[in-house]
Amino acid sequence: MDSSGFFLRSHTEVSAQPSFTFLYAPQKNMTRRLLIAGNWKMNLTLAAALELVEGLKKEAASVTDVDIAVCPPSIYVQPVAAALKGTNIGVGAQNAYFEKEGAFTGEVSMGMLTDVGCRYVILGHSERRNVLGESSEMVNVKVHAALDAGLIPIVCVGELLKEREAGTTEQVVRRQFDGSCSGLTADQMAKCVIAYEPVWAIGTGKVATPDQAEEVHAAIRKMIEKNFGQDVAEVVRIQYGGSVNDKNAKEILAKPNVDGALVGGASLKVASFMGIVRPS
Ligand code: 13P
Repeated sequence: MDSSGFFLRSHTEVSAQPSFTFLYAPQKNMTRRLLIAGNWKMNLTLAAALELVEGLKKEAASVTDVDIAVCPPSIYVQPVAAALKGTNIGVGAQNAYFEKEGAFTGEVSMGMLTDVGCRYVILGHSERRNVLGESSEMVNVKVHAALDAGLIPIVCVGELLKEREAGTTEQVVRRQFDGSCSGLTADQMAKCVIAYEPVWAIGTGKVATPDQAEEVHAAIRKMIEKNFGQDVAEVVRIQYGGSVNDKNAKEILAKPNVDGALVGGASLKVASFMGIVRPS
C-alpha cells in the first residue's frame, strides 16, 4: 500500500480544513507538521477570550507552516469558533461526553462540538484524570466518539512526580496510551494527536528538559509502532505540554519526536503564545 496516499486520504476525511496537509510541512520531517495548541483551561471572560482571539488572528495570519489551535472553555467554544472562521487558527474543546445525545445533564457531545466549528478535542487531560477521576477506559470511549464525529482527539498522557521518581514513567504512559487508544484501527490512530504532559510540569514552571521530553516521546512513538505499525507511528503528532513558554519552546520543539506543544498558562496572552508558535 502506498502509505503517503493512505494517510493523506485519511486526514483529508477527518479534517474540516482542506489545508491540513502536514505531509508537505517544511520543518521537523516530511510527515509531521507542528501543532501548537492553547489550552485555556477554566480561564478568561467572553470579552477577554474574544480580545485574545483578535490579537492571535492578526499575529498568526502570516504563519503557514505550523498548525495553530485554541481550546477555550466549552461555553466559549461557539463564539471563539465563529470569530476564527476562515482563519488559520483551529478550535478545540477541552473535553466532551461520548454519548451522542440524551439525558446527560451538564455534558456536551462531540457532535455539538463539530456543529459549532470545532476541529479538535482534548481528551484525558491530567486535570480530568487526576482531579475529576477520569479513567483511561472513559477516555477510550471518548476517543472513539470523537473520531466518529469527525473530530481530531488530542489524547493526553503523563506521569505524576512520584511515578517519575519511582522510575515508572514509561510504564504509566504505556498503560494510559494502551488504555486510551484501545480498539482503534490504524487509520483512526493516524488521525489522533498524543500530548505528553508530565503532571509535575503542569502549571509549576518546572518544564521537562528537552532530553526528558524526547525520551518519553520516542517511547510513545515506539508504542504507536508496536500497536499500529510503523506508517502510523511516522505520522502521529506527539505534543509536549507542561510549563511551555516563549523562552523554552525552541529547544523542546527542536527535538525530533516533539511535534508541537499543548500550552496552558502561556496561551492566555498573544505575545507569549505567538512566541511559542514562532520561537526566537
Ligand atoms: P501549563 O502550560 O500552564 O503548565 O499547562 C500545561 C497544560 O496542562 C496544557 O494542557
